[in-house]
Amino acid sequence: MRKVISSSWFSKLAWMPVFLLSACAGMKPEFAAQDLDRWAQEVLKSSFRDEKAVKVSILQQDRSNAECSSARSSGLELSDQARQEIEAENLKTVRPPEDGQYFGDFKQGEALAQDGRGMTWSDAPGQANGGQCYNCHQLSAQELSYGTLGPSLYHYGVNRGVTDLQSAVSKPVVEYTWAKLWNAKSFNACSAMPRYGHHGILSQAQIKHLMALLLDPQSPVNR
Ligand code: HEC
Repeated sequence: MRKVISSSWFSKLAWMPVFLLSACAGMKPEFAAQDLDRWAQEVLKSSFRDEKAVKVSILQQDRSNAECSSARSSGLELSDQARQEIEAENLKTVRPPEDGQYFGDFKQGEALAQDGRGMTWSDAPGQANGGQCYNCHQLSAQELSYGTLGPSLYHYGVNRGVTDLQSAVSKPVVEYTWAKLWNAKSFNACSAMPRYGHHGILSQAQIKHLMALLLDPQSPVNR
């Protein structure tokens, strides 16, 4: 037989948010801000466990995460000094390609940009992740579905004057783009973009495919 929620029980439950809200409204603000933050972190930590590709260690914030989150939640800007220090710390993590080759295959780059798989508790550890670039960026003109959290990357290479991947003129753009994909906070302390190389989300080979997608004059991003 189907169980039906008794109306008296249900009506009590419906009042719960009102009681909770009025309890929060009664707190002194200093008490609420500090302690709610600490409690929230404790609840998160105690209710998480390692599960396949997701590790509890992901809750450890580095300086960039901690200072950017607290600046955002308090409505304050980071100081110029903190911003510069955080960017310098992140830039130090960038590792250039081991074989000196920055470019792979733009077709594989496009597939990676489309692919949002990976890094969830149902993914086996060691399985290759996607880049999910389209979640935040426009890239090729053919793909109509994309997010707008990040700027459009359509014509990324053309707009920066890249006509030949190997030319000396392209070098600064190539090195900047590699570093941006490796660790986006190197140039923007509180960037919302995932730190693909630094956090081992993508391999060097995968980042090379994305480099080709962004900079090769023949790729759908630049045509
Ligand atoms: C969660 C959103 C998000 C995802 C996913 C994301 N980005 Fe970004 N990206 C941003 C934001 C926001 C910016 C602009 C702010 C900044 O510079 O960090 C940006 C900036 C960039 C820039 C620098 C643009 C310039 O003009 O200097 C490049 C290049 C870039 N993203 C490439 C990529 C690629 C390639 C991927 C996929 C591997 C990707 N992004 C995934 C949010 C994202």
